[in-house]
Amino acid sequence: MTQNTFVRLLRYTLDHRPILTRAVILLLLATAADVVGPLLIKHFIDGYLIPNHWSAPDIGLMLVAYLTAAILAASLSYRQTILWNQIAQNVVRTLRHQIFARVVSLPLRRFDYTPTGSLISRITNDTESVKELFVGVLGIYIQNSVRVLGIFIAMAVLDWRLMLVCLLFLPAVITVMIAYRRLSTPVFQKARELLSDINARMNEMIQGVAVIQLFRQQQFFARHYSDTVQAHFKTRRRTMQMDALLLRPMVDMLQLLTLAGLLYLFGINHLESTGAVIEVGVIYAFLNYLGRFSEPLIEMTQRLNLFQQAMVSAQRVFHWIDEKPETHTETQSNPIEPKPADIRFDHVQFSYDGIKPVLKNVSFHINSGEFIGIVGHTGSGKSTIASLLLRFYQPDQGHIQLGEQNLANLSHETLRREFAIVQQDSFVLAASVADNIDIGRNLPRTEIEAAARATGFHQHIEQLPQGYDTILDEQGRSLSVGQRQLLSLTRALAGKPKILVLDEATANVDSATEAQIQQSLLQLKGDITLVVIAHRLSTITQADSILVMHQGEIVQVGGHRALLGVEGLYRHLYQLQVGG
Ligand SMILES: Nc1ncnc2c1ncn2[C@@H]1O[C@H](COP(=O)(O)OP(=O)(O)O)[C@@H](O)[C@H]1O
Ligand SMILES: [Mg+2]
Repeated sequence: MTQNTFVRLLRYTLDHRPILTRAVILLLLATAADVVGPLLIKHFIDGYLIPNHWSAPDIGLMLVAYLTAAILAASLSYRQTILWNQIAQNVVRTLRHQIFARVVSLPLRRFDYTPTGSLISRITNDTESVKELFVGVLGIYIQNSVRVLGIFIAMAVLDWRLMLVCLLFLPAVITVMIAYRRLSTPVFQKARELLSDINARMNEMIQGVAVIQLFRQQQFFARHYSDTVQAHFKTRRRTMQMDALLLRPMVDMLQLLTLAGLLYLFGINHLESTGAVIEVGVIYAFLNYLGRFSEPLIEMTQRLNLFQQAMVSAQRVFHWIDEKPETHTETQSNPIEPKPADIRFDHVQFSYDGIKPVLKNVSFHINSGEFIGIVGHTGSGKSTIASLLLRFYQPDQGHIQLGEQNLANLSHETLRREFAIVQQDSFVLAASVADNIDIGRNLPRTEIEAAARATGFHQHIEQLPQGYDTILDEQGRSLSVGQRQLLSLTRALAGKPKILVLDEATANVDSATEAQIQQSLLQLKGDITLVVIAHRLSTITQADSILVMHQGEIVQVGGHRALLGVEGLYRHLYQLQVGG
């Protein structure tokens, strides 16, 4: 599993082959420049210092070469890091695109049990942690491995026997690395859990700050919080102790052992004087190289934990990307009738969680161009009817017909063209009024204006400093709540839908706006099928027919006057509003 995820992640870098190639070349050059320094010094010691041969031009040349190599090593490795970061950013961007594309096409059902906040934090945190994997783990691993390899090559060039001695050092270090990982993983795990506890607590406190203060529980919560923080601190300290007391001393000791081995060989060679005497410069270079080993290896060991953590994130990211999108049996060639089709709910049953029925056996018929009102207590299932009508969800049993077609068989495009919905909350983009109505559909200005006239929003727009070109701010502060709702209605109408659904669209608006909306609805009646869910009964008194919902069932159907004339839920609701 982990391996698959890893390979799959690496494959993403192949999309950036040109950068990748440059990064690899730079890395090789940087490493070469890095390991060449001790070689030059060895040359200086053995060729000039010991033989007491002071040739100014040669030495000057070596000095220049040494400095150049040092500068090159630093600048090339810097460039290489930048390139690698670039690859990481690109990969993360691709991943985010892919997740986003997947998430927006997921069936809405998928979100019933995933809180939006957790979804957002997952997408940002997990992809961020994948970037960390590329930059902080993979980048370092590749760099350090190449560096260690480069050192060995340089050693082999100097003296392959001594190189072999140093090679013995590696398996020992790897054993230490594995042992360290075994010991430290649970501690790191604990630290991570505590950190997420800290975040959760903080979140809780900020959200509940009013309640906490109301009940004078500040101290209690503060104590809880500081306990968690303290625990996290202790755990983190343990991880640092492990680094300081275990990892470093072990690696240092191994290094010393290797050094002893080297010196021993050096001594034997010297005593036996078998011709092949090891030069002082070689020893110098070996000591220098040996000293360069431990840092990269320790760094790699410490990052193993990061690696595990990032792999978990990557798995979650791929989990999202692999989810099945909303599937519909798309029927080809599906010419839509010029008149709005009639709507038929036929014994529709529906539940969000598969346990609690929300709609129980709902049947009704709406003629083309009719104005239908839906009323009922909160939770009676009104919005659910709207959601099924817009196919955000599919019925568990029964079916919904649009004209001759089963709603389930309509193409996505047809569906979105035929229907429009206005909900209780409006959203406003930081853009001009016209763009806010258009929202990317590229409608001609005449159609935008026609829609605004139909809803009465036009008069309001004329009052604005630049009319249709006035830029609104994102929170829509430049518009009143009522005007924002008129904007939503205009936006919906501008797409020339055949069926317009209003879900509590008048719940928060002032009575002037409500009257305005009522009037627009009356004018639209006949041309567009209107399904108006209303908490304020005044909005739907003019409807051709009103469905009264109670606990997932339609309990009454009829016109306003007829329903008022009989004892029942409608009259009850009406009296509540008039009386209250
Ligand atoms: N996304 C959802 N997931 C689970 N239950 C839901 C969801 N939306 C609504 N419900 C439940 O379905 C019932 C009907 O809700 P709804 O159709 O929104 O009622 P209304 O619009 O009449 O107030 C309620 O009990 C509500 O708690
Ligand atoms: Mg509702």
